[in-house]
Parts: sequence; C-alpha cells; structure tokens
Amino acid sequence: GKSASVPDDDDGKPSGKGAVAAGGFTILSEKKLFLGQKLTVLQGDIVKVTADAIVHPTNSTYHMGGEVGQAISRAGGREFQKEIDNLKSSQPAIDTAEAALCQGKKFPAKYVIHVNSPSWGDSNAQEQLKTAVDNVLKLAEEKHLKTIAIPSISSGNAGFPKQTAAQIILQSIRNYFNTTASSTLKQIYFVLFDTESVNIYTSELGRLDS
Ligand code: APR
Repeated sequence: GKSASVPDDDDGKPSGKGAVAAGGFTILSEKKLFLGQKLTVLQGDIVKVTADAIVHPTNSTYHMGGEVGQAISRAGGREFQKEIDNLKSSQPAIDTAEAALCQGKKFPAKYVIHVNSPSWGDSNAQEQLKTAVDNVLKLAEEKHLKTIAIPSISSGNAGFPKQTAAQIILQSIRNYFNTTASSTLKQIYFVLFDTESVNIYTSELGRLDS
C-alpha cells in the first residue's frame, strides 16, 4: 500500500486511496483512465474543495436553490451573487444541460461552472444528464482548467435515483476522455455528501472500464 499524503505520482501530487487532496480531503477511491486522467472520490462539502472549478447544478437562471446551490450561496454571499449578476448580464439564461462559468468568491475554487441539471421525470432526462456532463467538461476544457469538482448532479432536488445519476455521470466522463485526444483536465473530484453516494461511486468506479 501507499502511505498517506506522500507525493507519489508522476505529477508530484498526492494520489491514491488514503492520500489527502483538494485542500484537506481524504481520497476514498480513485481510478486512473487510459490517458492518465484521475477520477477521485471525496466526501464532504464541495464549497470547501480546492480546485480550478466547482460545479453548481441549477435551473435556467442560476438559482441557488438546490442543495449544492444553498451551500455555495451561504459561503459566497453578496460577493458571489455579484458574479452571478455579471454572468446574467452577458448570458441571461441557459437551456437544460447547458453550462456557464463565472468566478468564485469567498471559497477556494477559482471558478463555478453552473449547469442546468435535468430533473427525474423530464423527457429524455437521462440523455440530458449525459449532455450536461459533456457540456461541463467542454467548458472546463475551453477555459484550460486542470481540476474540477463535481457533485452528484441531478440526485438531490432534481430527484434522480442516486445510482442512476452516478452511473450516467461516471460513464459520460469516461467516454468523454476516451474520445478526446488531449485534454487540459487532469483530475475530476467527485465530491459526495452522503455515505450512500460515496459507496455507490466507489463501487461504480471499480466497475468502470478505464
Ligand atoms: N457538497 C456536495 N454535495 C452536496 C452538498 C454539498 N455541500 N449538499 C448536497 N449535496 C449533494 C446532494 O445530496 C445530491 O446528491 O449534491 C447532490 C446534488 O443535489 P442538488 O444540489 O440539489 O442538485 P440537483 O439534484 O441537480 O438539483 C438542482 O435545484 O436549483 C434547483 O431547480 C433547480 O434543477 C435545479 C435543482
């Protein structure tokens, strides 16, 4: 086994189960994909994660009413609300599965990627969730980001069963990297709140072909 918090990877950053990453989170499980990107499972509040961007599942007008949205709103306060207001002046609304980026304020992540998350029961909800994940990754890539933190999109307010959301999100990410020749993205943190989701992501990650 690898010892905890020792830089042991080719990029010199801590890696592997038990190491500490993203500003103090213990790596619960991890998989390295064929082209080297790391998919890493963490547990806790996504707002506290150090990464280039955190993902906010929202509605068409960036409402911070979902579970993650409320946490971002509490931490970011009026300063972050100003960043949303700026974003709205250039991009007033996003369709289902579309993503848009603004700066982070008063929490460690540099940027927030808002994504209009499909709700369980919407037509084509599962296909829309896949498209949502693709759009998040494309936008991160456009901005040359290296690390992003993703919650289990659509599995809170939006009502997807936890396992269905996990399977779609993980497969979409794996497929994206397997069909993208080179990517600025090096590491995806799955930041999960409840232990049920941690267990689901850990087992689905184990079953995922790299
Ligand atoms: N950090 C990480 N994950 C969290 C946190 C947190 N602080 N708090 C809750 N979660 C988990 C939830 O348990 C759930 O599994 O994040 C997952 C996503 O939940 P939501 O943020 O509610 O996102 P979603 O289900 O996509 O619903 C968003 O809410 O803003 C409205 O209508 C809007 O469609 C949008 C919906």
